[in-house]
Amino acid sequence: MSTPADPIDDLLAALWRDYTALTPQATRIHALLGARGEIVANDHVALRTYGVPGLGLEVLARPFEALGWVAQGTYAFPDKHLRARHWQHPRAGLPKVFISELIVEELSPAAQARIAGLIAQLPAGFGARADLPWAGRPWAVERATYQALLDESEYAAWLAAFGFRVNHFTVDVNRLTTIASLAELNALLREAGFTLNDAGGAIKGTPADRLEQSSTRADEIAVAFTDGVAPVPSCYYEFARRYPLPSGELFQGFVPTSANRLFESTDVRR
Ligand code: NI
Repeated sequence: MSTPADPIDDLLAALWRDYTALTPQATRIHALLGARGEIVANDHVALRTYGVPGLGLEVLARPFEALGWVAQGTYAFPDKHLRARHWQHPRAGLPKVFISELIVEELSPAAQARIAGLIAQLPAGFGARADLPWAGRPWAVERATYQALLDESEYAAWLAAFGFRVNHFTVDVNRLTTIASLAELNALLREAGFTLNDAGGAIKGTPADRLEQSSTRADEIAVAFTDGVAPVPSCYYEFARRYPLPSGELFQGFVPTSANRLFESTDVRR
């Protein structure tokens, strides 16, 4: 990281530390690419939250906006009860920030009550923390709560188990110098033993969409519930190749039909 300390570098480093602690495969993928001489740059980081007052995506975005990220496109994922938005930074080369939120009021009353039980444990002022994007899990949760949420929304269950932290970083494939396509990168990853998310095909999106994406399957890590430890899929690594718009500039948005399947990279049931 640069010296003197840059608050943007510090934020991204804190996110990366938290993410790699839960996602050992990310460190291994960096090493795999690094061994080829690649310097990995990230296209975006993605975070998740419950869409409730004081914790919604606009709240989770505040620490990024305070450092200059600017709100851009909005996205809807009706079948997963999610909405999302992305933020871009005027400084070239910084990752975009993609934040989604669960539309809690669209879930069953039972699921809403379980989520309310988690939120009720938050200390006053939790949503205002400057380190909210890597605050981790601020509540105690029983295994039965996790399972019941999983039956209805894998996203709700993931948040219950892991709390506030990066769900995935995304390698900017355009900035790789030894790998010409997403298919080539996917082949390299499979050969090295990584499992890709094949929901909807390994590559989501097309050059006509201006964005192709693929992702690994999430690692499973041991999560401490109030009534024991159990393995839960944590975070995954994503890969994005962008294509130019007619203006010649690279498309910087997201493609909802692709993102919809990428959300499933943490879904153990598939
Ligand atoms: Ni993503």
